[in-house]
Amino acid sequence: MKIIRTTRAMTSWSERLRRDGVIIGFVPTMGALHDGHRALIRAARLRCDALVVSIFVNPTQFGPREDLTRYPRPITKDRALCREEGVDVCFEPTAEVMYPEGFQTVVTLPDIARRWEGEARPHHFPGVATVVTKLFGMVRPHLALFGQKDYQQAALVRQLAKDLNLGVAIEVRPTVREADGLAMSSRNIYLNAEERMIATSLFRALRAGKQAIEGGMKNRTAIERSMRKTIEQASGIHVEYLAVCDPDSLEPLTRFTHRAVILGAIRIGTIRLIDNLLIHLPGKKNLARH
Ligand code: PAJ
Repeated sequence: MKIIRTTRAMTSWSERLRRDGVIIGFVPTMGALHDGHRALIRAARLRCDALVVSIFVNPTQFGPREDLTRYPRPITKDRALCREEGVDVCFEPTAEVMYPEGFQTVVTLPDIARRWEGEARPHHFPGVATVVTKLFGMVRPHLALFGQKDYQQAALVRQLAKDLNLGVAIEVRPTVREADGLAMSSRNIYLNAEERMIATSLFRALRAGKQAIEGGMKNRTAIERSMRKTIEQASGIHVEYLAVCDPDSLEPLTRFTHRAVILGAIRIGTIRLIDNLLIHLPGKKNLARH
């Protein structure tokens, strides 16, 4: 496996392969790789000839009071996982490579990024949209894979790639979970034993909401209220949002049809966790896109 750190080396590697008709797959990450990342890498490996994983803890997508400095950076372990999974290039730009002096341009966000994470973390999506656009320009992949775990991010990237004609096909893969349902996340290591136990209540609330909808319940606010109750039974948890939404616009659902997504974010102390579940009611023809 090659480790590349500069834009020029990355782009010339890709351009050379593209000229030979090689299909390049790409999985962008911030490192601290877990089985969720591994599943994306494996899926990508099956779909392309050459595979690039980027590891870059992007400072611009963290707010001033967020966890940028303590974000885990186990680079040796991450490279080993990439090697195990047959990654061809680990792209590890530094902040200076990504944002050299004079860097100015920022991508403006689509409507889909306005609510939920966009509201809770105003710095986040401008940083994500800009870095993903830059990474696509540096890596020049044919295909890039993202996790449903970050549902709004995946929706944003789809829109971005389409609107700006970035020439990259976007594929979104299902969320990988721990045995008790907790969505895998690089941030789960911040949880102590007690917090780890109560963290699953987010998944349990989403699942209860999904079951209510599948059972025919149509009152969105009542569903949201009962999900919130499930979580607030545990002490020390603060619900930031729990919302039944249209899976394409991410606006709160006004009319139940056959598809929905429930988005949730909670805080346990200073640790923020997000998760979501897609709902596709049986007997309806249209398949969910994500
Ligand atoms: P990061 O949090 O490292 O996630 C990298 C990719 O892994 C994202 O597409 C994310 O949705 C996916 N992922 C994380 N946990 C997952 C899980 N449990 N199951 C399936 N997929 C999972 O997301 C980012 O980094 C950054 O914002 C990035 C896109 C790299 C831009 O900086």
